[in-house]
Amino acid sequence: MQNHPNKIQVSAKAPSNIAFIKYWGKYGVQLPLNPSLSMTLSDSYTKTSWTLDRDEDYALEVYLDDELQPSFNAKIEQWFNKLPEEFNFLKQSKSIIKTHNTFPHSTGIASSASAFAALSTCLSQLYSNIYTNELEKKEISRLARLGSGSACRSIEGPFCEWGEASNEYATKLDEVHENFKSLKDAICIVSSKEKTISSSIGHAMMNDHPFKDARIKQANDNYTELKEALRNGLFSKFGEILEQEALSLHALMMSSKDSYTLFEPNSIELIHQIRKFRNETNLPVYFTFDAGPNMHLIYPESIEKDVQNYLEKLKGDGFINLILYDHLGDGALICN
Ligand code: DP6
Repeated sequence: MQNHPNKIQVSAKAPSNIAFIKYWGKYGVQLPLNPSLSMTLSDSYTKTSWTLDRDEDYALEVYLDDELQPSFNAKIEQWFNKLPEEFNFLKQSKSIIKTHNTFPHSTGIASSASAFAALSTCLSQLYSNIYTNELEKKEISRLARLGSGSACRSIEGPFCEWGEASNEYATKLDEVHENFKSLKDAICIVSSKEKTISSSIGHAMMNDHPFKDARIKQANDNYTELKEALRNGLFSKFGEILEQEALSLHALMMSSKDSYTLFEPNSIELIHQIRKFRNETNLPVYFTFDAGPNMHLIYPESIEKDVQNYLEKLKGDGFINLILYDHLGDGALICN
């Protein structure tokens, strides 16, 4: 006998992730044009609770920090429409979703990644309540991907790849050298302005981008080399590829037919400052950027104090508004 409880409440938390090899461009239903690879974060996460009432007609209420957000419905309903048919119960029930991010709104931290990873982990719990059957991690990752591509890399940690084993879901990277097991990410906020162009629009611009084929080749080559660097503990090779990927991502935006620029003056200033700091100290500290103006600085725990001192100085000099110190994490968790 299957158990069909009519009112189910579940909750989960899921972290954001920062891509080393960037997913940029997609086809079909949220499938990536190239493989990507990321570091799962720890302290930057979304916590979500979901109440499903199967005795009520379809309705959707989404709250961010206890405030109703009708503007979130469209993206979540688009996701409902992409889910496989065993999730049709969502379209016949009332859902109340309450969500909270640990990081400030519009800091350029990928909130859609942690949001859809947390939603998908909640959904896997609703599913197991209804069908008395557990979903595997890769199936939860697939659900997350349908909401936001990069979200599929937030289900597991500390490192995930998407687009090599499968384009449908991400999997955890197994072979990583000790040198990378204490990685830190200092997120340097230079602007909290809302993004002017969404990632979805950016991805779409890749369809007829003059450098599309070259980018796909570059991403594949970088992916292979980065995996090798991670496996063999080659920090400077890792850093070289990390920075090339971030700068290529922004160069692709700038060289799209509908060109746009997300860097702010202080993003560029920070690139100069970090290169100078690295040249002067020889410390293994490297930058990357998401689709936004804020720098993510990646470094091992062993040089944490040096990096923090330098960043606090840059903040004092007015180049950075806010620094969020984060580190490697293990992925999404069910909360009871
Ligand atoms: C630059 O996952 O936000 O952060 O699939 O349209 O939701 P959608 O896009 P999204 O794109 C993220 C792009 C990126 C690189 C990355 O995280 O790999």
